[in-house]
Amino acid sequence: MRRLLIAGNWKMNTSLQTAKSLASAIATNLPALDPDKSIDVALFPPFVFIPTVVEACASTGIQVGAQTCSQHPYGAFTGEVSTDMLLSCGCNQVLVGHSERRQYYHETNDLVALKVESVLKSPLTPILCIGETLEQRQTGQTWAILQQQLDAVYSLIDASQLERIIIAYEPVWAIGTGVAASSTEAEEAHAFIRKHLSRWTNAESLRILYGGSVTADNAKELLSQPDIDGALIGGASLKAESFCSIISTAHSLR
Ligand code: PGA
Repeated sequence: MRRLLIAGNWKMNTSLQTAKSLASAIATNLPALDPDKSIDVALFPPFVFIPTVVEACASTGIQVGAQTCSQHPYGAFTGEVSTDMLLSCGCNQVLVGHSERRQYYHETNDLVALKVESVLKSPLTPILCIGETLEQRQTGQTWAILQQQLDAVYSLIDASQLERIIIAYEPVWAIGTGVAASSTEAEEAHAFIRKHLSRWTNAESLRILYGGSVTADNAKELLSQPDIDGALIGGASLKAESFCSIISTAHSLR
C-alpha cells in the first residue's frame, strides 16, 4: 500500500511569529499517528522560516520542505537557494514546478526538469507539480499538457532515480479558487498519470497527490479514490484546525 502524504504549502504567508505558532499548533493537535497507518505529514513554509518550523516540529514526525529551489548547486545566483542549503536547514523534500512558479516566474518544462534533476542529485525528495489551466481543459488539451509536463522531466532523469519522484496533480483552475476538481475528475487524471508513467517507472509504487482547494470538507471524498495518495494543501493548511482535520481524515482512511 502506498503511504498517504498530507502536505501543507504555506506559500508567501505567515511571519516569523505566526510560522512558529502555526507549526507548534499543528504539532500539538496532530492526531497520534499510528506508524502502521502509513501516513506522512509535511509542511512547506517560506524559506526564511524553515529552521524555525524544523525546530517546532522536532521529534513530532512532521517533515519540512521548501516551495522551490535553484537548479544550480552554488555560486553567483543572487536570491536563489540551493538543495544543499535546504538540506543543511533540515528539509527532506522540495516542491518543483508549482503552477505559481510556472505562471509568475516563467518556469518552463525544461527548467522544471533541470530543477528535478538537481534535487535528485541530493537526498531531497522532489514533489513535481503539474496541472492544466482552465482554458487547456476546456479545449480538450488536458492529457497532452500533463504528458508534456511529465515527459520533459522523465526523459531527462536517470532511470534509477525516477522512483524517488512524488507527483502533485494540481489543476490550475482549482488552486485557490474554492472549486476543487470533483473526485471523479481528479481520479481520472491520477489514473492517467499513473498509466502514462508506467512507461518510465514502476508506477504502482509512485505517489500522486491531489492539490487545488482541498478542505476539511472534501478531503474524505478525494482521498478515498484509489489513485489519490495524499493532498497538497494551500489555504486550508494555514489553520491548524483544518489541516489537522484533513490529517485525521487521512488517518481514518488507512
Ligand atoms: P489551495 O492551494 O489549497 O489554496 O487551492 C493548493 C496549492 O497551490 O498547492
